[in-house]
Amino acid sequence: MPHPTDDSWTVLGLESSCDDTAAAVLRGTGGGAVILSNIVLGQTELHAAFGGVVPEIAARAHAEKLDLAVEAALESADVTLEQIDAIAVTAGPGLIGGVMAGVMLAKGLAAATGKPMIGVNHLAGHALTPRLTDGVGFPYLMLLVSGGHCQFLQVVGPEDFTRLGGTIDDAPGEAFDKVAKLLGLGQPGGPLVEAEARKGDAKRFSLPRPLLDRPGCDMSFSGLKTAVLRLRDTLVADQGGLHAQDRADICASFQAAMADVLAEKTRRALAQTQAPVLAVAGGVAANQVLRAALEQVAAAAGARFLAPPLKLCTDNAAMIAWAGLERLRMGARDDMSLAARPRWPLDQTASPMLGSGKKGAKA
Ligand code: KG4
Ligand code: ZN
Repeated sequence: MPHPTDDSWTVLGLESSCDDTAAAVLRGTGGGAVILSNIVLGQTELHAAFGGVVPEIAARAHAEKLDLAVEAALESADVTLEQIDAIAVTAGPGLIGGVMAGVMLAKGLAAATGKPMIGVNHLAGHALTPRLTDGVGFPYLMLLVSGGHCQFLQVVGPEDFTRLGGTIDDAPGEAFDKVAKLLGLGQPGGPLVEAEARKGDAKRFSLPRPLLDRPGCDMSFSGLKTAVLRLRDTLVADQGGLHAQDRADICASFQAAMADVLAEKTRRALAQTQAPVLAVAGGVAANQVLRAALEQVAAAAGARFLAPPLKLCTDNAAMIAWAGLERLRMGARDDMSLAARPRWPLDQTASPMLGSGKKGAKA
């Protein structure tokens, strides 16, 4: 087993905090790491009929699939369990049944092999990913925007994060998904709303930009979603239905409001932190209009803009193995008392977030 300061740890990562069962193998090198394998077994079809992730179904699926994901990750990396130096596992925040399934498997593997184990905060996994993909140094600003998360983090060290603000209700991906549902589009809604928006006029409808009139970096998206609901109902009442162009214009107007809010709050976060780098993560970071808006804001602030490849932006276990490796290199270890935590704010000094979306606690 390598010395804690040794560079060449081979780490098995486990992720099961939401609706992706994931395992990955990473090998440290030159202060960074190479991804040897990255397996993600999604559960979308299991939850499709319910309009959101059902925690019990998710937990059961994780319990059934985690060991298969581990086998696949080891095989694809062409390493044996004996060649793994440490196990990193998401210990929260998230849907507790899934997190427990991961933590129990990690404990079992650690007990059976005698290898060290480390519990990782899922949000730290997202937040530290730009260091894995691009080798960025500390500090930098991270905007996490997905179906379950929405927050600005000043990333100062592997265990040192300052939360500058976040959503007080829905996450942006949740709002995209709900708007898609209101308009009869499929799920996940983000890419479908974006495609509709390309055919639409973003200026036709004036939708609210929630919390822009208040200082700071907190955001709110539930009112925007309700405004879309009202707009749809008004159009239906006036015209007896929605034309294809109405739908495209609603999507474009909604997306513009979303991009405006995120861009302005990002501008404030960059001004406040003077961060040299703005990095984004989460499924919503795939949105081209949002991405262009953020790139502009970063350029205006003189900051570099970084968006990791989508596969590493959305939930995966490579980011967990990486965050684990960063902490292992600092000498951190967990023992059998490691607990699964439904809520686990990265910044212990920040006031708790209020939202708790369809994909579990936002911490
Ligand atoms: O990070 P992710 O895969 O899962 C978690 O939420 O943890 O993010 C999924 C979310 C969904 O709500 C989806 O609608 C949204 O990201 N999304 C998008 C786009 N692609 C995915 N939202 C807006 N525009 C997109 N192109
Ligand atoms: Zn996530």
